[in-house]
Amino acid sequence: MKILLTGGTGYIGSHTAVELLENGYEVEILDNLFNSKKTVLDDIEKITGIKPKFHEVDLLDMPAVEKVFEEGNFDLVMHFAGLKAVGESVEKPLKYYENNVGGTINLLKCMEKSRVKRIVFSSSATVYGNQGVAELTEEMQTGVGITNPYGETKHIIEELLKDVSESDSEFEATILRYFNPVGAHSSGFLGEDPNDIPNNLMPIIMKVSIGEIKELSVYGDDYDTIDGTGVRDYIHVVDLAKGHVAALKKMGPGVSIYNLGTGKGTSVFEMISAFEKASGKKLPYKVVERRPGDLAEMYANPNKANQELDWHTELSIEDAMNDTINYLRHIEKK
Ligand code: NAD
Ligand code: UD1
Repeated sequence: MKILLTGGTGYIGSHTAVELLENGYEVEILDNLFNSKKTVLDDIEKITGIKPKFHEVDLLDMPAVEKVFEEGNFDLVMHFAGLKAVGESVEKPLKYYENNVGGTINLLKCMEKSRVKRIVFSSSATVYGNQGVAELTEEMQTGVGITNPYGETKHIIEELLKDVSESDSEFEATILRYFNPVGAHSSGFLGEDPNDIPNNLMPIIMKVSIGEIKELSVYGDDYDTIDGTGVRDYIHVVDLAKGHVAALKKMGPGVSIYNLGTGKGTSVFEMISAFEKASGKKLPYKVVERRPGDLAEMYANPNKANQELDWHTELSIEDAMNDTINYLRHIEKK
């Protein structure tokens, strides 16, 4: 089976490429390298022995995307490509709608033209908005109370896929709602290496630990949680990548939606302690005001993916911290 990974040189796409190649799938990657580097292809080769064919193409460049499909003969698309900086999406909403929604429309048009009928889409727990409860299940209503344009684009694309599915009974879409991906490949070759200033917790912890950021700002310690700090469901990126292989094996007509998370919440203070334990170093931090739009606590109910996909997370926060530190050593040496 031949699979096109849009955004495949990015953080989650590259780890998924490795799992797909190790399971015998043929992989090609399309990416505009806006938030990733071409050297990721060499790193994938170091791990798997295979360097995927690469198309340096922007999804907004319709003729170029069409060409990739005309030559590709793909059986399925995994669609990771997108912009994901929540803060920037508030400042530049048009850029986010154009890139994420516009890029997906171009992709779906090219898939239709080339009769490629299967897609796995990278969605986010952000589509749940504020449900008033911490544990999130797939059948909850989505799209209400989303606090930023990035999250809106994920919701809109989910709806888009449902509408395309309504119009074509052969269309197969699997929507994967990721919780909070962390960690790196155990080889140390792949990890999260954003080109821009990160705004998620783990990449900020990484930058603080190597001295690129002075200290971590903890956004509030007065939430109604175990220690007052925000609680999230941090999933090791390799477990997440494996979830894609599991999803692929169970695809069928229509739209299927799965949470990919561990089912367990971890607080910011617990994340700081886990990083300090793994690195043997103190992580400087200060408690500041709550971040607007943040929820106190959210975590996945992963039962549907556990049962229907026969997929379970295997790696812990400790594994994620050790792998992140190993990856940091690798990039420091480069
Ligand atoms: P990433 O930025 O590392 O990877 C995304 C890749 O898409 C990048 O390599 C970027 O260059 C590419 N890209 C962006 N716009 C493109 C375009 N128009 N044409 C071609 N390539 C383009 O991000 P990631 O963390 O690997 O996330 C992958 C997907 O998962 C994204 O859609 C993201 O929104 C979603 N997601 C991520 C998280 C997270 O916390 N990392 C959580 C939930 C959902
Ligand atoms: C954020 C986004 C969400 C997006 C997700 C994954 C917001 C409001 N939400 O969610 O839309 O889908 O990232 O990309 O931006 N924290 C700190 N200090 C920091 C950074 C984070 O204390 O410098 C805390 C947060 O308050 C939160 C936890 O760490 O409690 C995790 O934050 P983050 O990694 O940004 O993820 P989410 O808040 O889940």
